Amino acid sequence: MQIILSECTVRDWHLDDAAALAKHANDRRIWLNMRDAFPHPYTIVNATAFLSTAAAMQPRTWFAVTVDDQAVGGIGYTLHDDVERIAAEIGYWLGTAFWGRGIMTAALRAVTAYAFREHSGLRRIYAVPYVTSTASAHILEKVGYRLEGRMRHSVIKDGKVLDQFIYAILRDEAMSTGHAADGDVSDRRH
Ligand SMILES: CC(C)(COP(=O)(O)OP(=O)(O)OC[C@H]1O[C@@H](n2cnc3c(N)ncnc32)[C@H](O)[C@@H]1OP(=O)(O)O)[C@@H](O)C(=O)NCCC(=O)NCCS
Repeated sequence: MQIILSECTVRDWHLDDAAALAKHANDRRIWLNMRDAFPHPYTIVNATAFLSTAAAMQPRTWFAVTVDDQAVGGIGYTLHDDVERIAAEIGYWLGTAFWGRGIMTAALRAVTAYAFREHSGLRRIYAVPYVTSTASAHILEKVGYRLEGRMRHSVIKDGKVLDQFIYAILRDEAMSTGHAADGDVSDRRH
């Protein structure tokens, strides 16, 4: 998969992204907003393990965000099963050197549209940023995700008990705001 946007490109992870991934992901300012499964420090060993997992996924739902074909961030969603099989959780991060250029707003809009197009049974995509993740909440709002609530004392991060917001967008909402046309998408799986 590859989506070319004016701010960045979203594409499948490649095994040779390891050095760029370890470089850009290795930042405490990113880690503070992520689950603990996102390592810190983020080593080349962590990067290689992640890329092997991403390459083996079927379907692939974790993608690199690239600038000048260098992987500088990641965005992905997790499809749920059982009665929640109509929902997916989305998450993302970006190297701090690239913050504030509109990159992840564009990537989030495009991947939201891609996920609804790619998975016909998907009805809802949601995200659960910590209440301290101000930039994340802001980009979700810019893309049309709606704030549905606040999950009190739902996580412990860096030794602090935090609340999480829950934001979601439904298929009809995403399609009616023109997301469906976002980006120049090519799918190179055959
Ligand atoms: C969230 C993140 C991906 C945003 O990426 P980005 O490409 O810098 O985002 P954009 O430039 O598209 O938009 C950021 C918006 O947040 C705003 N913003 C940034 N920091 C902010 C803050 N502390 N308070 C309020 N708004 C803030 C920016 O002004 C911008 O809004 P604007 O376009 O209206 O001016 C990046 O900050 C990041 O990787 N954070 C750490 C990981 C993370 O939070 N992941 C999400 C977990 S749910």
